[in-house]
Amino acid sequence: MSMYRFGSRLNVIVALFIVLILFTGCATSGVLPTPTATATPEATNTPAPEATSTLTPEATATAFHEESLNSSKYDNVFVYTIEEKENEGRSLLHVAYPVTEQEAINTHLEEFSQKFIDEFRTTAAEQEETYQAYLRDTGEKAVSSGALYNQHFDVIMANTSLISFAIEQYRSLGNTGSTDVTVYFFDRMSGTELTISDLFIDESYLERLSTLTRIELEQRALIQAEGLDFSSDLARQEWLQGQQERIRTGTEPIEENFDSILFEDGGTVRVLFDRYQVGPGSDGVVEVTLPAASITDLLTPATRELLGIEVKAPSPTALPSATPVPAPALTPTPMPEAQTAPPPPAEPMVVQTESEVNCADVPCVALTFDDGPSVFTNGLLDLLKERNVRATFFVLGQSARVQPETIVRMKQEGHQIGNHTWDHSNLTQLSDALIQEQIEQTDNLIIQLTGEPTQLLRPPYGAYDEYVLSVAQLPIILWSVDPLDWKDRDAELVASRISDAPIGSIILAHDIHETTVAAMPSVIDALGNRGVNFVTVSQLLAPPALVSGQTYRRQIAP
Ligand code: NI
Repeated sequence: MSMYRFGSRLNVIVALFIVLILFTGCATSGVLPTPTATATPEATNTPAPEATSTLTPEATATAFHEESLNSSKYDNVFVYTIEEKENEGRSLLHVAYPVTEQEAINTHLEEFSQKFIDEFRTTAAEQEETYQAYLRDTGEKAVSSGALYNQHFDVIMANTSLISFAIEQYRSLGNTGSTDVTVYFFDRMSGTELTISDLFIDESYLERLSTLTRIELEQRALIQAEGLDFSSDLARQEWLQGQQERIRTGTEPIEENFDSILFEDGGTVRVLFDRYQVGPGSDGVVEVTLPAASITDLLTPATRELLGIEVKAPSPTALPSATPVPAPALTPTPMPEAQTAPPPPAEPMVVQTESEVNCADVPCVALTFDDGPSVFTNGLLDLLKERNVRATFFVLGQSARVQPETIVRMKQEGHQIGNHTWDHSNLTQLSDALIQEQIEQTDNLIIQLTGEPTQLLRPPYGAYDEYVLSVAQLPIILWSVDPLDWKDRDAELVASRISDAPIGSIILAHDIHETTVAAMPSVIDALGNRGVNFVTVSQLLAPPALVSGQTYRRQIAP
């Protein structure tokens, strides 16, 4: 099945993503620090050459209104996360995709993600060959040689009958990076993927969009012709004719011409035209914004409901969209076994953790979990609650946005929430502005959800340098015990590596792996039997007050 035959899938360049972020930013801009066309937090790693030129000032302005996180669209959506390090960390992969109550949707997105992962593995192997050859020939290590792949997503909109995701895929080799965004629409009842045309009652939307966009683009061309210098009136005329011809072809009422349509919360529809479709390449992606009312009469009732447009006279063919989605037990497809931790032993050890444990007097360790929240985090929280164990979660902003309730729960149950950046970027490869954005954007979301800022930073991949230390406004928390739970997906092995952790350890683990969660009952038993208290990182390290830009790996010797 060709990607381009499916209208709802937009496979586009970063320029488009910026438009998209402005769009999604409207729903979540309480989270995004005033997104701008030039520096969207989500497009961090990527140079965005032409993106800005395609945005009209009006289009940019719409992104600036403040709204709080619309968590209802994330109901029943969880994050499945995969991380890989290849060739001693020279190639890095971080992939997140949605898991919903609808198995067919999950399978679809899993397969989509798997292609990206396979491509990463191939690229990483090729890069490694080049790296080794260079090393052989010159005796030197190449500075930048690995592949960096990052996939994350946002829920664009969701109700009980439809759900839409934007999945961003970033690929980088050395200094060159590229981003693709794919937008999916699914029928949530059946799990069927929908095309753009499925959102409309019939094909008449094509004629409507064709007319409206052609009028707008022809007007723009006229205005543009006025502003340009031509050698003669004839030259102007010829230029204009060329433009009009491109516009006519590019807006012909066929599906391929209207495969990128974004519905905005604020009652507008954005029609995006590929580079070269309606203008010269220098125009980049061209966008026409229309009032939603100009086509809402052609939308299916389910789509209208999704967009929050009142359906005045529901037709008898309306989908049963009012039926609430039953919330079936969530079983993510990639993991056939239960998503929660296995039942604890008959008499689980309940560790007595006083809220004011003084780690100067009693033995303590800090359990830390990175890269969540994920589809496995709630199971872990259940377990920690049952055993009265406190931990520290270094969360990703992008995943926290999808699972806001999990973050609220962490806070309510006495855990500490640390900052692990927005999208698991390698901070050593970012400018100071982008490093701050990664941290602040996450922080803003956590404040919104818990009322408190994050006080600790754990850089993704543990990667930092002097520059990162000087820019980060937070203490950097590393670790002293690494059970390699990302590498060995073996609960017993992971548990045995943690269980003899020295007093004062900061223990690294990841709540994105089912096996890690499954290892925790044994870990709690083993350490608890040694009289060890499980405390948050701040408790373990206090006093003294932690210093921004300093690194900490274990309890500071009293
Ligand atoms: Ni991480």
